Amino acid sequence: MKNKKGKENYEKNTELNNYEEEAEKRKKNETNNELNKYEQETEREKQGKRFPQKKVSKTFDKVFDKETLDTIHKISTAGLFDVLEFVISTGKEAYVFRSTDKGGNFRAVKIYKTLTSDFHNMTKYIEGDKRFKNIPKEKKEIVIEWTKKEFKNLEKLSKAYASVPYPIGYKNNVLVMEFIGENGEASKTLKEAGVKDMENAYQQIVEFIARSFYLSNLIHADLSEYNILVKNFEGKEKLVVIDVGQAVLKSHPKAEEFLGRDLRNISNYFSKKGFEKSEEELRKDIRKWKEKLV
Ligand SMILES: Nc1ncnc2c1ncn2[C@@H]1O[C@H](COP(=O)(O)OP(=O)(O)OP(=O)(O)O)[C@@H](O)[C@H]1O
Ligand SMILES: [Mg+2]
Repeated sequence: MKNKKGKENYEKNTELNNYEEEAEKRKKNETNNELNKYEQETEREKQGKRFPQKKVSKTFDKVFDKETLDTIHKISTAGLFDVLEFVISTGKEAYVFRSTDKGGNFRAVKIYKTLTSDFHNMTKYIEGDKRFKNIPKEKKEIVIEWTKKEFKNLEKLSKAYASVPYPIGYKNNVLVMEFIGENGEASKTLKEAGVKDMENAYQQIVEFIARSFYLSNLIHADLSEYNILVKNFEGKEKLVVIDVGQAVLKSHPKAEEFLGRDLRNISNYFSKKGFEKSEEELRKDIRKWKEKLV
């Protein structure tokens, strides 16, 4: 389809081509400017690392490109969510919004940036993943594959009862999942919130890695205190691992390297907090889970 479209474009007269290219460039610049303006604005309003829970409905039509707006519209018409309420976070690669569905349930909606995404970093994780037979060349297509990959990873992990947000749906660069928070307030990361009960938190992370590794055949590949949320659940600290787009199958050529990095991050975090856990100990504790799981 792409090729056919490309051929058609090619066959149009040059004048029209030039005009279209110019218009496209202008559109991209405008959207980029809007994004930059929006980011500067929110940056100014940033409190610590978190954003004020700000109504964005008026702004977001200026922030996203037309295709993303279309996708948001379609996915919302399909009933996955009703309104995008406010930005929970804006990272390098995506915006995360709190939204509600028609029944008033909260949802988290992650919208990957198609214009500013760091897609070079993404290809590293897609290459070598046997689930991706054709690796797209175009940035937009890579971001779409990435969103699908994050959804599929969430599905695999949820099935293994690994603690991740429950996946609800996706389309193109938009992913809808369970909202992790209390009373409408998004949970903070382990980095921001810390935990009181270190032993309990450590055990939950060991269980997460074991379930992912032995039951889902997945390695998170960006596991750290920045990608773990801490939710208060019935008086206990419940850890939920997020940001699983880059998670790779065990068969990935760099799987061991990624696993090693994850374990080092976790071991460093706990050791820094005075709860010494060597990487070796962590490996041993994960292995112990193997018998419990099968
Ligand atoms: N399901 C969720 N429920 C509540 N908050 C969420 C959820 N998913 C993500 N968030 C919030 O959005 C932030 C960014 O999410 P995530 O790490 O998935 O995206 P990212 O693009 O990697 O962002 P960053 O570059 O900041 O890591 C999280 O730190 C968290 O505050
Ligand atoms: Mg993250």
